[in-house]
Amino acid sequence: MNRAVESFLSTDPAAAAASAARVGVPRAHESAHLHVAGAAQYVDDIPEVAGTLHAALGLSPVAHGTLNAVDVAALRSQPGVVAVLTAADIPGVNDCGAIHHDEPILAAGQVMYLGQAVFAVIATDRESARRAAALAKKVLDITPLAPVLTAREAHARGQYVVPPMHMVRGDAQAAIAAAPHRLRDTFTLGGQEQFYLEGQISYAVPQEDGCLKVHCSTQHPSEMQHVVAHMLGKAKHHVQVECRRMGGGFGGKESQSAVFAGVAALAAFKLGRPVKLRPDRDDDFMVTGRRHPFEFSVDVGFDDEGRLLGVEVDMLTNAGWSADLSSAVMGRALCHFDNAYWLPNVAMHGYCARTNTQSNTAFRGFGGPQGAYAVEHIMDTVARRLGRDPLAVRRANFYGVGEHNVTPYGQTVEGNVMAPLAAELEATSNYQARRADIAAWNATSPVLKRGIALTPVKFGISFNVQHLNQAGALVHLYSDGSCLVNHGGTEMGQGLNTKVAQVVAQELGLSFERIRVTATDTFKVVNTSATAASTGSDLNGKAAQDAARQIRERLTAFAAQKHGCDAAEIRFANDQVHLGAERRMPLDDLLLEAYLSRVQLWSDGFYATPGLSWDPKAMKGRPFYYYAFGAAVSEVVVDTLTGESKLLRTDLLHDVGKSLNPAIDLGQVEGGFVQGMGWLTMEELIWHPKTGALLTHAPSTYKIPTANDAPAVFNTRLFDNSNVADSIHRSKAVGEPPLLLGFSVWHAIRDAVSSVGQHRVDPPLRAPATAEAVLDAVDAVRAAIATPAAVAAAVEAVEAQ
Ligand code: MTE
Ligand code: HPA
Ligand code: MOS
Repeated sequence: MNRAVESFLSTDPAAAAASAARVGVPRAHESAHLHVAGAAQYVDDIPEVAGTLHAALGLSPVAHGTLNAVDVAALRSQPGVVAVLTAADIPGVNDCGAIHHDEPILAAGQVMYLGQAVFAVIATDRESARRAAALAKKVLDITPLAPVLTAREAHARGQYVVPPMHMVRGDAQAAIAAAPHRLRDTFTLGGQEQFYLEGQISYAVPQEDGCLKVHCSTQHPSEMQHVVAHMLGKAKHHVQVECRRMGGGFGGKESQSAVFAGVAALAAFKLGRPVKLRPDRDDDFMVTGRRHPFEFSVDVGFDDEGRLLGVEVDMLTNAGWSADLSSAVMGRALCHFDNAYWLPNVAMHGYCARTNTQSNTAFRGFGGPQGAYAVEHIMDTVARRLGRDPLAVRRANFYGVGEHNVTPYGQTVEGNVMAPLAAELEATSNYQARRADIAAWNATSPVLKRGIALTPVKFGISFNVQHLNQAGALVHLYSDGSCLVNHGGTEMGQGLNTKVAQVVAQELGLSFERIRVTATDTFKVVNTSATAASTGSDLNGKAAQDAARQIRERLTAFAAQKHGCDAAEIRFANDQVHLGAERRMPLDDLLLEAYLSRVQLWSDGFYATPGLSWDPKAMKGRPFYYYAFGAAVSEVVVDTLTGESKLLRTDLLHDVGKSLNPAIDLGQVEGGFVQGMGWLTMEELIWHPKTGALLTHAPSTYKIPTANDAPAVFNTRLFDNSNVADSIHRSKAVGEPPLLLGFSVWHAIRDAVSSVGQHRVDPPLRAPATAEAVLDAVDAVRAAIATPAAVAAAVEAVEAQ
């Protein structure tokens, strides 16, 4: 027997299996110790190379106009200024449009929105660059043109970034006409700023032979590489884009890191010096877009149970000045209007209006939340019209079996756990008893009103642009048993690297501590997709598993031959190699043997999601590999004199399949919920109605939730489930779906306001339900019940309680 091989008596197999489990265990984020110590390196923490210059963007002071000239000489003469760059300095293609090519990096010919980057000042220090760039109004010669500032105005003019989109099943109008009840309604839904804690930033450093290295805070290094190469007229192999981590992205760095990467790279290329571009928060708000705001116009036919027999819906969004990702966002909105419900007859129409405002873009959920919001709004109103509990109406509409389990776009909702999940949450949150308690409490409380709501979530997982569903990885096993992993995904705090490391640990039987995941780098894994659509761990986890599996198979073949045992009996666990039931050896020893025998100890891996199909014209197919489900119950109290509301309690139950890491998944569920709640209750965007200036462009005027806004009682659980699809260890994506759990808060507020009118009047509550919006809705309800007939009905309702 080989010296390195020892005999052993096997320990308790269950205990051995548990300790060998690398996936499925709660584990701290791989960088948690660095995050808390301030030692995690972000782009701005990278030590600056000697000679580094700093860039600042000169922004258009008007929403629309003809760009006649930039007084470059005036800017050059400012203190510290080394160079001024405009569109004319771009040697290649001046475009960073992610899908459509309508987006100049620096404005050329026209300015299209207030805040558009027109020129860049490069200076010896950041303050000098910013001071000179702030002279934009003085140095820009622009002939103003009439701006189009609202989606409605653009819609009236037929001005869109992409042609209108339609998704139809059955005959909606015929079903509506034949239905016992009808609802016609219009409502609006606000946008949302990503508010990543680390702002946009890029640092470009010239390399030998005309190459460039760009450190960029981006969810999409390959797209940044493409934009920079294209802009400079270079091949992609000249441009290395690296991202170790982001301080949050939330979709805001999927496409819109491009202006910053582009300008930093252009300056570095032109000047042959390292250039950093770090806009401050206000400029970040002014330059970049955010979640698409929507306006809905719905026509609904329903029966006595509240079942939606026919629905026609117009979805109008403000795409902003360029297409960016808006067509895909609208596509996802249309694919999520069904949320958890079977809609037999439905006609949806999506319009992406082109306006002279920031270009709206990806934000957690990517249109899915907007589409699902609309149907949830309908459910709530239908329930009130029928005098039924909204949960009963929702449940009456849940997807069922057979043809009742097929989405409007033709995909069967496989693994549908919506009904049991909602029932479990209804029970554990004590929903029914609390609803009764709240009604009794409200009857005795004239000013403060409570409300409660249970809302469901179904979310489709995969990029809705098919070819993006692919990923690659490299796994390097060193001869000392340490392991380096690189994959195409990016880390933005969501724990992707932790999960991928767990997958590799599982595959190779390595302890987690042996694995290090390194910065995403376009010179390592190439042609990658954005880390988006919640697919990061699904795609990159599978690719890394594929790489690790190949290494394990090579080692297995080698060990079988070297140690004379059956390959089928070789197992890797606990940093050991088990050579059948009786023998084992430290993995390190086998690695050394394998190295000396010239066995390849590293591998690439690749994954492409199977079974997807999509016909973009018909808007039919199987766009999603599987669905994730969830539900939330929230209870609020509303002050009907001030409009303030407070979230008292939330219970979340969310389906992540077989969790790769329950600790990280719980964090994603809670974080997504709070972000969704912030969107629908407090985050409000206001543009000047005449100039098109974004007035809420800093934390002073734009409020996001804080820890204090989390409910005092906050119960979050993962639903006991697996994945019907062969996903990585049967887990499910978790990044975006929980954002929709925030619906429960908005609906609880609407329920509280509704109680002011004894649930007889639909509160015209806007989203976000800010204090002003709540007060307006309360006033409207009070006005509606102030007629004698309404008062009589309300009194009767109270007496009946
Ligand atoms: N979580 C943190 N902490 N920071 C983020 O920026 N982005 C969200 C989500 N969770 C985000 C996050 C968005 S928009 C997406 S698409 C997913 O994470 C992306 O990562 P994943 O696919 O690895 O889940
Ligand atoms: N999510 C995020 N980004 C995308 C998608 C998506 O579904 N499709 C294309 N880009
Ligand atoms: Mo997430 S909106 O897909 O980056």
